[in-house]
Amino acid sequence: TLAHPADLLPAARAARTGVGAFNVITIEHAQAVVRSAEEARLPVFVQLSENAVRYHDGIEPIAAACRELARAASVPIVLHLDHATSAELCRRAVDAGFTSVMFDASTLRYQRNVTATAEVVAWAHQAGVWVEAELGAIGGKDGAHAPGARTVPHEAADFVAATGVDSLAVAIGTSHAMRERSARIDLDLLDALYAEVPVPLVLHGSSGLSDERIAQAVAHGITKVNVGTQLNQAFTAALRHVLEQTPDVTDPRRYLRSARTAVGHSTLRLIRTIAGPATA
Ligand code: G3H
Ligand code: ZN
Repeated sequence: TLAHPADLLPAARAARTGVGAFNVITIEHAQAVVRSAEEARLPVFVQLSENAVRYHDGIEPIAAACRELARAASVPIVLHLDHATSAELCRRAVDAGFTSVMFDASTLRYQRNVTATAEVVAWAHQAGVWVEAELGAIGGKDGAHAPGARTVPHEAADFVAATGVDSLAVAIGTSHAMRERSARIDLDLLDALYAEVPVPLVLHGSSGLSDERIAQAVAHGITKVNVGTQLNQAFTAALRHVLEQTPDVTDPRRYLRSARTAVGHSTLRLIRTIAGPATA
């Protein structure tokens, strides 16, 4: 079923469990994520980034596919717009049935981030839509964010109060698009953020973390865990394997099926890791 973050995240925050949020590019990604969630019997976020929307030349067709997969699913699925720098795209996403958007004004200076985010929150809440925002750039994205960035707890609490956002992406040591799972998270900072910020915290760039560190982050107060790159590594490796093994292949289903299966294995493992022992 198509779900709303309010049905999932506040309770998960209180229970210190996590919900996996997976970036999808193709329909195969979305199918894999939804099937894994059904197999695990756990809710997930299916998220499309502004870059993924650009790849599809517009939000409607891919959103429609994700929406129908979510509607038919036996578990709650949130359709979420990830890293939108455009308020206009947030509106389109809401028109396309998204119940959740991330408005990312984190490259702006603090006060301009507050103003731009508060504007999005005002109309999104009218439309019954959840808003995630970001403070303290998470390293690596498009080279625009400095690695090593950290969110300051009292500033994060002020930001949430000033904007009215429903959840907050925090910088605690991960950076986007890591190919190795070698990142370390600052657990003391995370403890402070959990204590001072009253809304669910979101971890970006989670592909850079081992499963053990993901579980630790959730235990210390991360509620939504965003994963993208790791799924694409699995997708591409499986596809490459089929092409190498059968160089004369022509039917795309041969390699896309393998790619989809590989994404499914990764997501199933991650969904269970993120949910933690309480929900196993
Ligand atoms: O918003 C998306 C996530 O932060 C994904 O990051 O591709 O490094 O896993 P990742
Ligand atoms: Zn991100």
